[in-house]
Amino acid sequence: MTPREQEIQRRTELSETRVTKAVFPPTTNHHNTLFGGTALAWMDEVSFIAATRFCRLPLVTVSSDRIDFNHAIPAGSIVELVGRVIKVGNTSLKVEVNVYVESMYSDGREQAISGVFSFVAIGEDKKPIPVLPEPAQAAE
Ligand SMILES: CC(C)(COP(=O)(O)OP(=O)(O)OC[C@H]1O[C@@H](n2cnc3c(N)ncnc32)[C@H](O)[C@@H]1OP(=O)(O)O)[C@@H](O)C(=O)NCCC(=O)NCCS
Repeated sequence: MTPREQEIQRRTELSETRVTKAVFPPTTNHHNTLFGGTALAWMDEVSFIAATRFCRLPLVTVSSDRIDFNHAIPAGSIVELVGRVIKVGNTSLKVEVNVYVESMYSDGREQAISGVFSFVAIGEDKKPIPVLPEPAQAAE
């Protein structure tokens, strides 16, 4: 494994982000399930936090890939969102977010939503900058 690959692995572990939420009425729709727009907002925030923890640089969202809504999330559930960096480019990062749903009153959970969000690190001039420090600094 190269030093860069080691650094990516280290930062990926450190930056994994988990957020747990209860699905209460303000977040549900007329089907009494989690509103999709709310789920997207939560996923965007978790992916942004994971990407920021990874590089500790100013980031902008540049794209989101396909979002799969595999299972409806009933009101009164618990959801956990897990964001993890899955690809590191020169100035960009991809973060996968999986959303798991569990009942409040029984064990077990299943994946309900997944998606990938891409971010670009930007400098003061708003232009892309590298997401990882130069090799000489990476070992510090
Ligand atoms: C993000 C932004 C700075 C990129 O500028 P740009 O001049 O297009 O950048 P480049 O073409 O040099 O690409 C920079 C990186 O972004 C990646 N990229 C560009 N467009 C992309 C897209 N649609 N999806 C995924 N990655 C993309 C490139 O592959 C490149 O990655 P790499 O350096 O890791 O190889 C510019 O498009 C921008 O400011 N967009 C608006 C962002 C914004 O306002 N977001 C909403 C609020 S946060």
